[in-house]
Amino acid sequence: MWGGRFSGSMNEHMARFNNSFPFDRRMWAEDIRGSMAWARQLAAAKIITGAELNALLAGLEAVRAEFAESRFAALPSDEDIHTAVERRLGELAGAVAGKLHTGRSRNDQVATDVRLWALGAIARADAAIRDLQAALLQQAEAVGNALMPGYTHMQRAQPILLAHWLLAHFWPLERDRARLADCAARTAVLPLGAGALAGTPLHVDRAALAAELGMRAPTPNSLDAVSDRDFVAEFLFCAAMIGTHLSRLAEDMIIYSTSEFGFVMLDDAYSTGSSLMPQKKNPDSFELLRGKSGRLIGHLMGVLTMLKGLPAAYDKDLQEDKEPLFDAADTLELALPVAAGAIATARFNTTRMRAALDDAMLATDIADYLVERGMPFREAHKVSGVLVREAEQRNTTLSGLPFDAFRAASALFEEDVLDVFSPERSVSARSVPGATAPTAVQAQIAQAHAALA
Ligand code: ARG
Repeated sequence: MWGGRFSGSMNEHMARFNNSFPFDRRMWAEDIRGSMAWARQLAAAKIITGAELNALLAGLEAVRAEFAESRFAALPSDEDIHTAVERRLGELAGAVAGKLHTGRSRNDQVATDVRLWALGAIARADAAIRDLQAALLQQAEAVGNALMPGYTHMQRAQPILLAHWLLAHFWPLERDRARLADCAARTAVLPLGAGALAGTPLHVDRAALAAELGMRAPTPNSLDAVSDRDFVAEFLFCAAMIGTHLSRLAEDMIIYSTSEFGFVMLDDAYSTGSSLMPQKKNPDSFELLRGKSGRLIGHLMGVLTMLKGLPAAYDKDLQEDKEPLFDAADTLELALPVAAGAIATARFNTTRMRAALDDAMLATDIADYLVERGMPFREAHKVSGVLVREAEQRNTTLSGLPFDAFRAASALFEEDVLDVFSPERSVSARSVPGATAPTAVQAQIAQAHAALA
């Protein structure tokens, strides 16, 4: 391929070190698609004849079929997907194959291939996230107005709707999809025509080329075009963020599925047993979802570190962009359907959740009661805290305290303070948009449907 200048052949270790074919062969469809579009531009610019174009297209189609039917025979000398396709094209189409690379470099070619591949991965990730969102939303609707303890610092805090907790995991995924869409807009820019670094001397129509390949526009600077892997880093950030969201959902599900909580039971299809302890049912689905976030974050760090010291140009370091990109996309494609299935089939024990609500979780509502009667919140907070401590000392619950105790803490208390000890009343009071009242959660569910529509 670049033999003219060389007399010696490559060291065997160096060859294995240098060859990217074992992993970049995955981009065969993108590589051939880009080459077909390039061939058409060569014909339009009168670099090749119509007959030569047809020969190139037929040859590329034949190579495509070999890959699609898993019968492409690679040679050890195939350095990467680009050289492999061109080598095979030469065998099938003859000398005309030597004209395909006119005005093109592997530098603009590989940048184009990776962008096309990343766009496919973004579309697949988007669809898989939607399925998980749909599972969360469907559960949120199925559980109605069931209550659960809401936690902060993993301490019982205030009652909330179970649907509210489910939807708290829906919206981060909505932001992930928005981030992916944003990333797609910056990925859908065409490097082809940038050549090695200075731009092609051929009068090709780059705008038409971009449109043919589903890109928004050609890159504005050829040197930037062959250097830019921002879109890879951006995709990896999106993947790392999705992984972090899945990990947080998983952590909640793992804790809630313990015997100590007993809030949720995972379906057998998403659990494993123990080879030693017959009673065990382990939440491996969610543990792996939590664990996989580590590799996703690692890929982002790896690519940023690889990019950091590079001069503005193509450098072989950039070949290291692909494996993290592929693995991140593969990890999402494995993880998201598991998350969706495990959520869709989980059974929530709303009785256990209701029973886990205690009076102390309504201490804020006691303070709110006093505020409604004119007390400054800071003071009301203190009064309510004194009552909580008193209940603790008397070994009873807040509502178990005699009315005298309330009266002693503040003259603002009336007999109706006992009405406060209703978690239903507590959640219903929180009816502003985005809060946990059943009316607000209904509106939230409608918003979630609109987001998925
Ligand atoms: N395999 C290379 C990569 O993945 C393709 C580009 C090679 N370009 C070059 N000038 N050596 O980055």
